[in-house]
Amino acid sequence: PDHLSIRNGHLYIGQHDTVDLAEQYGTPCYVSDEERIRQNFLRYNSALREYYNDVQLLYAAKANGNLSVMRVLAKMGAGADVFSSGELHLALLAGMPPEKLLFNGSSKTTEDLELAVDKGVRVSLDSFDELRQLSEVAKRKGKEVEVSFRINPALEVPTHPKIATGLATSKFGIPAGQILDAYKAAMEADNVTPVGMHCHIGSQILDVAPFGKAAEVMVDLAGKITDLGVRLAFIDIGGGLGIPYNRETDKMPTPEEYAKAVMPVFLKGIEKLGIKAQLWVEPGRYLVGDSTILLTKVNSVKKAHKNFVNVDAGFNLLIRPAMYDAYHEVVVANRADEAPVETYTVTGPICETGDILAADRKLPVVADSDIMAVLDAGAYGYSMASQYNSRPRCMEVMVKGEKSAPMRRRESIIDIINTMQKLPWHEE
Ligand code: LLP
Repeated sequence: PDHLSIRNGHLYIGQHDTVDLAEQYGTPCYVSDEERIRQNFLRYNSALREYYNDVQLLYAAKANGNLSVMRVLAKMGAGADVFSSGELHLALLAGMPPEKLLFNGSSKTTEDLELAVDKGVRVSLDSFDELRQLSEVAKRKGKEVEVSFRINPALEVPTHPKIATGLATSKFGIPAGQILDAYKAAMEADNVTPVGMHCHIGSQILDVAPFGKAAEVMVDLAGKITDLGVRLAFIDIGGGLGIPYNRETDKMPTPEEYAKAVMPVFLKGIEKLGIKAQLWVEPGRYLVGDSTILLTKVNSVKKAHKNFVNVDAGFNLLIRPAMYDAYHEVVVANRADEAPVETYTVTGPICETGDILAADRKLPVVADSDIMAVLDAGAYGYSMASQYNSRPRCMEVMVKGEKSAPMRRRESIIDIINTMQKLPWHEE
């Protein structure tokens, strides 16, 4: 990608030598490029707006919940798909207006529903129980709340089974046979008005055809829902466009191809119905995935069953390889122009065999104290990090032009200790 380059043998992000950044901020450390996030947003947004002006991007906050990242997107006009009260608070703090937010989730608490009602945020409902509960909450507060239902489109998608979310068997969404009843119930429920439809078919999808199919399912259903008397203000077709983690083998669709698969179907659909609904989309990974690298230092190199490179970041900080067998490119940042001559397996410091960041990669000869960069770590990287093995989570840094600054401080062991409480019967 354009924001990564090799100069004087070192990997650069924007105008910054990653080896210097590692020295300045310490490792492990996530580094994001603000300009790249902007570019990604612009490209996605313009691809869709080529066809239709009433498109609203709702950034999937789960991909990267750093407030600075969300502020950048808020300034560009993004709203957010929030999946918890925490993400809702962050989106509002980042300056996203409530009308550009959708509170998603398949298992919301009463407190979640109360927060949505208090803040005037639309809710995407995932069950009849939730409809009843939300109606009760809104009634109690004397407020009105607008809703959509998350629809299960029952579509097979080509991605890792753990991130295919719209299968008939998945936990998300209202199944086909119950959708009209759900909208009827919502029309009858006190203090609730159905105004939208929502679905999400999965993540890291490498083919645009399923998105076109999903759009088709949604506009077909829109007809039936409109027939009930529902006035649809928005149709939200979720996120899910993948990115090329493996630049040699991944043939990833562009936002333009995505738009071409989705927009004509959507436009034809709403035209036929004679409605003027907004199109909402919820990209996460595409907007932030490639904007960020994870810098990690080599602690030791060991020749054993394999050539192991032991680095200071593991699945505590980037769980995608361990959890989804995900591929992330790794670069030896201080030997970025040396030829790959040895095969290495890059492993983290976690006490588990599965703590592998990259398996069997051809790299230049690696030595201790080298700096490695794990690429495309901006989506579902820090946001899925943990404190496993009592490891404090790392720092996040943003670069913009010549500037760089931390956007989240490194945790310390004190942060971890401070959440624990001594038991009264262990005092003295
Ligand atoms: N909207 C909804 C309702 C979602 O559930 C998701 C992702 C998105 C939007 C954003 O999808 P994206 O554009 O980022 O593909 N942790 C996994 C990905 C889980 C995605 C869950 N839902 C990973 O690291 O690959």
